[in-house]
Amino acid sequence: MSFCLPPTRLILNDLTAADLCNIQAIARDPDFRKYVLIWLDTNEQIAAFLQHAMEEAKKTEGRLDYVLAARDRTTREFLGLTFIEIDPAQKSTAEIGIVLLPAFCRNGYGSEILREFLRFGFETLGMHRVYGKCDEQNLASARMMEKCGLVYEGTIREHVWLRDHWRSTRYYGMVEREYRQLTSISR
Ligand SMILES: CC(C)(COP(=O)(O)OP(=O)(O)OC[C@H]1O[C@@H](n2cnc3c(N)ncnc32)[C@H](O)[C@@H]1OP(=O)(O)O)[C@@H](O)C(=O)NCCC(=O)NCCS
Repeated sequence: MSFCLPPTRLILNDLTAADLCNIQAIARDPDFRKYVLIWLDTNEQIAAFLQHAMEEAKKTEGRLDYVLAARDRTTREFLGLTFIEIDPAQKSTAEIGIVLLPAFCRNGYGSEILREFLRFGFETLGMHRVYGKCDEQNLASARMMEKCGLVYEGTIREHVWLRDHWRSTRYYGMVEREYRQLTSISR
């Protein structure tokens, strides 16, 4: 799968075996380790994560997980890891997540990717609700979701031990009517 984000600087496409070192770089990033609730702590976990992403990418129907690399549209340099994942128990809802390498943060890439995932989630996948979540200490992620129009829905307090702290998680969501309203205003 390859999304292009005209007229922006990015593509989002499926991971390949050659992305192993890119996922290792993400997994070493202190912000990833501090904030992200994905377990990529060992080489085995990283290999299993990549394998699962590549297996999902082979599906021609019933695909639930889109774990995609964000790459520079011109150079194809790897910028970060992103996903949109349909809830298997509630197939009208999808979660989004974005993790950029530190060198590419604060350049507007996160917001561009999130807007594309909203478009893909509502217009292509036909979702009713798209949501994201972040550690309550993660100001960048919270701001990115607010800026793209997701609504703060609440915080689950200290529900999981994340490497060195009890994580409280802020939830942000958008439902289809809000997406339609947002896009009709910006057209
Ligand atoms: C969270 C993340 C994806 C945001 O992507 P980004 O490309 O840096 O964000 P953008 O440049 O689109 O900025 C979006 C908004 O967040 C703000 N922002 C970005 N980084 C920030 C920071 N460290 N602190 C406070 N605000 C920040 C920007 O200023 C912008 O708001 P504004 O337009 O009102 O000024 C990125 O910072 C990242 O990958 N961080 C590390 C991993 C992570 O935490 N991922 C999220 C897991 S839930």
